Amino acid sequence: MPKAVVLGAAGGIGQPLALLLKSNPLVTELGLYDIVNTPGVAADLSHISTPAKVEGYLPPNDGLKKTLTGADIVVIPAGVPRKPGMTRDDLFKINAGIVRDLATGIATTAPKAFVLVISNPVNSTVPIVAEVFKKHGVFDPKKLFGVTTLDVVRASTFVAEVLGDLSKAPEITVPVVGGHSGVTIVPLLSKASHPLPSSFSSDERDKLVNRIQFGGDEVVKAKDGAGSATLSMAYAGAEFATKVLRAVAGEKGIVTPSYVHLTADPAGGDALKKEIGADLEFFSSNVEIGPEGVSKIHPLGKITEHEQTLIKAAVPELVGNIEKGVNFIKAPK
Ligand code: NAD
Ligand code: LMR
Repeated sequence: MPKAVVLGAAGGIGQPLALLLKSNPLVTELGLYDIVNTPGVAADLSHISTPAKVEGYLPPNDGLKKTLTGADIVVIPAGVPRKPGMTRDDLFKINAGIVRDLATGIATTAPKAFVLVISNPVNSTVPIVAEVFKKHGVFDPKKLFGVTTLDVVRASTFVAEVLGDLSKAPEITVPVVGGHSGVTIVPLLSKASHPLPSSFSSDERDKLVNRIQFGGDEVVKAKDGAGSATLSMAYAGAEFATKVLRAVAGEKGIVTPSYVHLTADPAGGDALKKEIGADLEFFSSNVEIGPEGVSKIHPLGKITEHEQTLIKAAVPELVGNIEKGVNFIKAPK
C-alpha cells in the first residue's frame, strides 16, 4: 500500500508532480508538505476520482512528521530555483539547509522510505541526505536516488528532433551519466537506442551534447527570472517515481539512470569507478531497481573516445560538488 510524499508540494514542480502522483493508480496515499499552501493544494487534488487519499500539512503542529508517517517513497523538490546568470551551485547556500532539515525529518520518521532528491544542486544535495542518514545510523544506499531523469527525457526529445520525428521521442532511450549540472551531464549518444544519422558531423554532435548538458539554462533563460523547469521536471519526477513504485510492486528488469551512492551495489560500483578512473562516492549510471531499491549498478560499457573525454571533464566538478555536500554535514562552518 504505497504512501508517496512530496516535500515542497506547493511549488512549481511540487504541484504538477503531486497531480501526476495523484493520477497514478499505484499510489494509495499522498502526503503533501510545504511551508505554504499545502492544505489548499491537498483539498484541490483530493477531489480527483483516483484511489489516493490526499493530506496536506504545514510546519506547525508537527506537520512534517505527520506527512512523513508511514511514507514509502519521498520525493523532494523543496528549495529555490535558478534565475538567469546563476549556476545550480549558487543555490547551495539556501537549498543545502532546506534539504538537511527535511532529510532529518525523514531519517527520524520514515527511515526506510525511498528518497528521491530533485532539489538542486543535486550533485551536492544527495550527499547531504546520505550524511544526515549516516548521522542517524539509518543510511541505506540502495534507497537514495538523485533524480537525473530530466536529462534523460531531454536527450530522448532532442535526439527525436534531430531524427526529424518527434513521435519517436517516447521510445528513444539515451543513457545520461555523471551528475546533474553542466559538464557533469554526460549523454552517451553512442549507446542511444536510435543511432544518429550517419551524415551527422562532429560539430553537430557537439551541439547536441551541449544542448543536453545545458537544457536547464534554455528554460531558465526563456522563463526570464520566473524560475526554471517545472512542468518537464514534474513529468520526469513522476516517471522516475513510477519506476520505483513498479519495482516495489515486484516488476523486474527496471533499469534507468540515477545518481546513487556507489556502495548501493559494491561490485558494480567498484567496476564503474575503474571505468571512470576515479574513486567517486556518487555517480549517475544506469541502475536496476528492485523491491529493496538499487539491485545493480550497470557499467558504462564500451564508449567512444569523445565520451571518455566528456567523463574526464565531469569528474573534477563532481568531486568538488560531492565534497561540498559531505562537508556541509560532517564539518559545518
Ligand atoms: P519553487 O520555488 O516553485 O518551489 C519550491 C517549493 O519549495 C516552494 O513551494 C517553497 O515554499 C518550498 N520550500 C521552501 N523551503 C521549504 C522547506 N523548508 N520545506 C518544505 N518546502 C519548502 O521551485 P521549483 O521550480 O519547484 O524548484 C524546486 C527545486 O528543484 C529547485 O532547487 C530547482 O533547482 C530544482 N530542480 C531540479 C531539477 C532536476 O532535474 N533535478 C529540475 C528542475 C528544478
Ligand atoms: C534543470 O535541469 O532544468 C534543473 O536542474 C533546473 C535548472 O536550474 O536548470
